[in-house]
Amino acid sequence: MTSEEKFKKVISHAKEYGFIFPSSEIYDGLSAVYDYGQNGAELKNNIKDYWLKAMVQLNDNIVNIDSAILMHPTIWKASGHVDAFNDPLIDNKDSKKRYRADVLIEDHITKIEGKIEKEINKAQKRFGKNFDKEQFIKTSPRVLQYYDKIKSIYNHFSKALEEDDLIGLKNIIEDLEIVCPVSGSKNWTDVKQFNLMFGTKLGASSESAMDLYLRPETAQGIFVNFLNVQKTSRLKIPFGIAQIGKAFRNEIVARQFIFRMREFEQMEMQFFIKPGTQKEWYEKWKETRLKWHLSLGIKKENYRFHDHEKLAHYADAACDIEFNFPFGFKELEGIHSRTDFDLSNHEKFSSKKIKYFDSQINESYTPYVIETSIGVDRMFLAVFSNSLEEESLPDNSTRTVLKLPVILAPIKIAILPLLKKDGLPELSKKILDKLKWDYKVVYDEKDAIGRRYRRQDALGTPFCITVDHQSVSDGTVTIRYRDSMVQERASVHEVISKIQSNLNIKSWLKT
Ligand code: GAP
Repeated sequence: MTSEEKFKKVISHAKEYGFIFPSSEIYDGLSAVYDYGQNGAELKNNIKDYWLKAMVQLNDNIVNIDSAILMHPTIWKASGHVDAFNDPLIDNKDSKKRYRADVLIEDHITKIEGKIEKEINKAQKRFGKNFDKEQFIKTSPRVLQYYDKIKSIYNHFSKALEEDDLIGLKNIIEDLEIVCPVSGSKNWTDVKQFNLMFGTKLGASSESAMDLYLRPETAQGIFVNFLNVQKTSRLKIPFGIAQIGKAFRNEIVARQFIFRMREFEQMEMQFFIKPGTQKEWYEKWKETRLKWHLSLGIKKENYRFHDHEKLAHYADAACDIEFNFPFGFKELEGIHSRTDFDLSNHEKFSSKKIKYFDSQINESYTPYVIETSIGVDRMFLAVFSNSLEEESLPDNSTRTVLKLPVILAPIKIAILPLLKKDGLPELSKKILDKLKWDYKVVYDEKDAIGRRYRRQDALGTPFCITVDHQSVSDGTVTIRYRDSMVQERASVHEVISKIQSNLNIKSWLKT
């Protein structure tokens, strides 16, 4: 299956099994806005819960807040979003399609990386077991040429971004002969800046209404509550404030399903530290966040760090944790050293003193901040696309299975009576009543047992409990594991304790 086919399969599977629907579908949808269905909402909540547990419950110096989406408009002036939250856009005159200039260039680089990968795969096939990948990369003239090309593009690209050189960006697109994916032409307009914030109004009459923005990040709700939280919690630096909530961006290039949406959710944490300690905390949070991702059991090679070429207006260091999505490595999470930019600016714009008194050194200062920021929807796409498999079975049949990390699965257990008679449904419902207090459990008695297993595989349900005639006579049931398809006979009590040990949050987050 090509990566494009795989991605199409991800989108159709998400819809067919009640995970994600296009928003307003009966009215032909709304571009780059999506709704989460009955299984998607559960999976999304489990992701948020897993993040909250790791971030807040396990750290006694991090608290969680829930600030409003609508905020005073001066906040966005102070944060720099009114002046600097822009994307460099370019239009193709033939297709009339609009693109982010930086994304066009990045996609071009990804294509060259794909060519390198192809060369490596070809050589691997040719040399078989004796293939030394590192040596090949260091010596193959073609691969070296591709690397030189990427380096040269990056140099020009980062310089243009650094200097906000819009003409420079257009020159790169022209020099690389990048074509519009729709029209195939190189007929480009100049590059222009475009602000991504959505505007709205507060108030009844047009004369008195106040112009507001829908927040483009949840972070500012944390900064403007810094004093409230610090004073009421009496937390001492270093400490963190976390928040999960909706954010809105008028994304122009809103492609790739839920990867880039106009309404999305963020899980952000601002960690307040003493000025001068930011390098050490930045490294610590990079390590901590990667560990969180790896705790879910997704292979390490699917993640990589990418340092930012152009730092955002608030940062003195920044990187992304990139994930290997079906369309290649792209940003999943951002880790930013935000200096004292936000707190200082809110102090300036609000004329309120925003300082921390450090009793250890008997001094007041504006704390520095390390931010970790991850999109819930991107995390959803990462785990969902990584888990979806078409598996060939020994009997030459195939099955579609969603091998979600067990801790995130929307339905944890399916209870399946082998037949709809002889007391099997009644016993099944008794087991369900016992388990539903702790887990999301479903009951399914329709169709042959094999089909029911396949249905649960496609939903990502890690455990099926099958109730048969023996269950009525001796109280044992069969537990069937999604990934291995292994079936074991055991008492209900033993089955519950097997499930409990698989879902023990401690063993997940401790790894
Ligand atoms: N407070 C910092 C901040 O907002 P960002 O890199 O712009 O930084 C953080 O966004 C994360 O939010 C990204 O890594 C991504 O996971 C998610 N995100 C950003 N824009 C998004 C969009 N349009 N759709 C879905 N997720 C998005």
